[in-house]
Amino acid sequence: MTQTSTKSELIEVSSNPLTFHLHNSQVSYVFGVEDENVLAHHYYGNSVDHYSNLRRYPRLMRHFAPSPEEIETRDFSLSTLPQEFPGAGGADYREPGIVVEFPNGSRTVNFTYDSYTITDGKPQLAGLPATFAQKDEAQTLTVKLVENDAHLELYLSYTIFRDLPVITRSARVKNLGQQPVQVQRLASFSLDSPDNELNLLQLNGRYAQERNVTVEPLNTGIKILDSKRGASGHTQNPFCALIDRHATEFSGEAFGFCLIYSGSHKSIIQMDGYNQVRIQMGINDQNFEWWLEPQKSFQSPEAVLVHSDQGLNSMSQSFHDLFLNHLMKSKYSHQARPILLNNWEATYFNFDEKQLQDIISSSHDLGIEMFVLDDGWFGERDAPDSSLGDWVVDRKKLPNGLKPLSDYCHSLDMKFVLWFEPEMISVKSKLYEDHPDWVLEIPGQRRSIDRSQFVLNLGRAEVRDYLLDRMSYIIDHADLDYIKWDMNRNMTEVYDAKLSASEQGEVSHRYILGLYNLLERLTDKYPDILFESCSGGGGRYDAGMLYYMPQTWTSDNTDAIARLKIQYGTSLLYPVVSMGAHVSAVPNEQTGRMTPLRTRGLVASSGNLGYELNPLNLLENERQEVKLQIKWYKAHRHLIQFGKFYRLQNPFETMRTAWMFVSDDKKAAVAMYFNIFSEASSPLHMLIFVGLDPSQKYSINGEYTAYGSELMQIGIYPLTQNDGDFDSAVFELKAVE
Ligand code: DGJ
Repeated sequence: MTQTSTKSELIEVSSNPLTFHLHNSQVSYVFGVEDENVLAHHYYGNSVDHYSNLRRYPRLMRHFAPSPEEIETRDFSLSTLPQEFPGAGGADYREPGIVVEFPNGSRTVNFTYDSYTITDGKPQLAGLPATFAQKDEAQTLTVKLVENDAHLELYLSYTIFRDLPVITRSARVKNLGQQPVQVQRLASFSLDSPDNELNLLQLNGRYAQERNVTVEPLNTGIKILDSKRGASGHTQNPFCALIDRHATEFSGEAFGFCLIYSGSHKSIIQMDGYNQVRIQMGINDQNFEWWLEPQKSFQSPEAVLVHSDQGLNSMSQSFHDLFLNHLMKSKYSHQARPILLNNWEATYFNFDEKQLQDIISSSHDLGIEMFVLDDGWFGERDAPDSSLGDWVVDRKKLPNGLKPLSDYCHSLDMKFVLWFEPEMISVKSKLYEDHPDWVLEIPGQRRSIDRSQFVLNLGRAEVRDYLLDRMSYIIDHADLDYIKWDMNRNMTEVYDAKLSASEQGEVSHRYILGLYNLLERLTDKYPDILFESCSGGGGRYDAGMLYYMPQTWTSDNTDAIARLKIQYGTSLLYPVVSMGAHVSAVPNEQTGRMTPLRTRGLVASSGNLGYELNPLNLLENERQEVKLQIKWYKAHRHLIQFGKFYRLQNPFETMRTAWMFVSDDKKAAVAMYFNIFSEASSPLHMLIFVGLDPSQKYSINGEYTAYGSELMQIGIYPLTQNDGDFDSAVFELKAVE
């Protein structure tokens, strides 16, 4: 068979058989057109320069494996073929990538190859957050598939980034028929692989204990990782990875997958009877149905596929790089983030102007650069049971409004921040009196309440317009620099009385599209405002929100020891600079634990540093220590926020945690070591550094010198004596002659 090929820089197309090879110096992804025009997956992994069709699926006689009637054969069947986007109701009994219900009641849909286009750069996805790239940074292949019996077209998009081991995928289905059809599932991607000696790594958790790292061997059957909450959620991050059974932080193959979506999501990992693995990610199809009128399309969110052949650290660094350079669109994504003081744990709802001014002044003395006025400044909000929706300043607490506080901050060269929870409504509110119908509910039926609040239906334009209007007013009048956007409950009774009975399956996704629409308008209107997203801490820490807001409040759990796990898990894919991390008072509000101020400072300095305590309550020696922490952080801020991040010791596996930050030129590094529990007659533990220049000599804390090779091969003893539980140490490495 003769093979001809056309090659753009990153995408090679060969004919006979038609094969697409997306590759750069780090990764290759190959698929092609099989018998009967089926799009089949061939290979995803380390980069190869050439692909000679070695992974074409063998013709093997299989039983109970139907084939297309026209070519009746026992050795070619959709039931075993690794596919690029499996349909439903035909010969493939595994999980479908798409399910559509047709007017005749059929749900059978199977696509075949039609044509392709290649474009430079990366087209945006209408109405959805997605990665972006300049024309010379990526190429996009769009493959058109058709389902002639059902009058549908399916467009599969693949973008390969030039300098990253990253491929992003999404799918769009279009109705060419005369009648509406109902899309009941559309995965963002589906990937089949014969490789099966894999572990599944996932990030699960709960409120105040988000993103626990769990690893388990893949086994036959179906594993579902999902959220049905109308938010990405505390319990299951829209991320997972398939990793070598023996992968470590620094070795072995890892395939990371993440969905750029903030609503209900679903990942399906299936191993079939032949031990072939299928993985899919997309909008959760529970309670999901989308009507497609003739000539209309439905676009899936984008998914990110990252490959590493050097373990988990390298996978994470690729995610960090992608998110920082190709996802976070804020002008602040590459700017140093201000050190803040947040009054939530300091005052909760009880404050007045004088008290806040004292806190601001005292924070300023400590070197803090920004003051966050959290919940409680609006309506009559003295407790969580009222006023959400009434975005009007509470004149009882702040008789002169917000401007004097904002002016005061600005006079001290500090930034002024307000907390909002725009997506919610309290029954005790003026907004509820005026618009009780704006709530997500089934009129006349029982409903579920959480934190005394209900969810506003952001799927409706009038709700979004109201919020944009109210927030704009406050932003302009209070001269805000930054907004913390909170969201403190999940959806229930997902229903919109303005939609027809058959459209109710659209409500949850319409909400998320509405949220994105509001965020798009707000961030476009106020490009100078730095936004932080939050959902009871990290309940919506996802790539969709990062597109609009370049930082997230990582968790309401501010306990330094609990934070080791939370920040470790979060760093699997989210950049350090996106992680809000605060020093709070002890005993800790969430765990009751006492930890040294030094350790609290170091853990919070491993992210985007802030303080969430009343500075007026600090003892003099604590004030001095906090001043030093802030001075130290300022000196190392760029390295920490934008350096390469390496996880060294895993709190999920040991009683120790260590991580480090290395500058791009490898001339500077900071490593932090945390000893969780102190032991009598403790065995010695080494701290082995990574990412340094082996031939470079470094000074360590200005006390002694060693070469990079020694530090990376031999390491150091990080703690020399037992200073009790929760002890920590920091090592500053500087290149010297
Ligand atoms: C939940 C957030 O995570 C906290 O930081 C704080 O803003 C509260 N909400 C306020 O209600």
